[in-house]
Amino acid sequence: VAGTVEIRFGGRRASLALAPDVHHDAGNEPLYGPLAELVRGNERVLDLGCGHGVLGIVAGLAGASSVTFVDVHPPSVALALANAASNGLGSGARVCEVRGACGDFLAPVKGETFDLVLCNPPQTGGPAALRELHPARFGGADGAAYLVRLAEEAEDVVPDLGARIVYFHLSRANPRRVAHAFEAAGFELERRASQARSFTLAELDALAPGTGSHQLALRARGEAEFTGGEPNGSAVCTMQQALWVATRAFMPR
Ligand SMILES: C[S@@+](CC[C@H](N)C(=O)[O-])C[C@H]1O[C@@H](n2cnc3c(N)ncnc32)[C@H](O)[C@@H]1O
Repeated sequence: VAGTVEIRFGGRRASLALAPDVHHDAGNEPLYGPLAELVRGNERVLDLGCGHGVLGIVAGLAGASSVTFVDVHPPSVALALANAASNGLGSGARVCEVRGACGDFLAPVKGETFDLVLCNPPQTGGPAALRELHPARFGGADGAAYLVRLAEEAEDVVPDLGARIVYFHLSRANPRRVAHAFEAAGFELERRASQARSFTLAELDALAPGTGSHQLALRARGEAEFTGGEPNGSAVCTMQQALWVATRAFMPR
């Protein structure tokens, strides 16, 4: 998809340029208002897996003092920086420093700390073929790999008590494993907002054959939560997409 979209959140708006190879999901918009409400002002923010930069831009417009955009995909970082600038961040009257860095996950910000990390990572669980065909959608076998990795590696980037990680999480991506990972890493969890999202197993199979039945197997093992998809039931499946706040309550060890 190319062109421009306008997003609205909490009485504000932002305009985002899109690019064909940069992720955009219009269905996320209802969660941007609750995200903006979480920004207290003056936080140093990391937008991890920034795509076109929407999460960092929402935070910047809501009062963050700095936003660092990180993505493994160089065109995404470039687009996020351009979108931040076109929305008035990093220059002029609005005091918000903006930076971008390209690389794998937290490696580009090694040695830095943040008050608020925002993350909406790939989280479709599936067979190895999904990783081969759609690496940008693949979230490990159960979809939870990136969020668990974030919890496990968060010690260096959010060491301060009260520092927060705000993440988008689909309930088909192993909610129990993700919650356990954040709690074991010293965070208290709060679900701030959620919305129903629909999908079909056929859509998933179109990404990579076998992904639909893989999802059913995850659900049967208690590693995915969604309704629908039974052989004689509704073809439309429904999961929850939630905005979670993980607040540093203690340091493990
Ligand atoms: C679901 S998209 C979310 C994009 C944007 N934050 C949003 O909410 O619309 C996930 C993003 O994570 C990026 N990504 C995937 N693997 C990554 C990695 N290992 N390190 C950094 N970014 C990664 C992708 O390039 C993509 O831009």
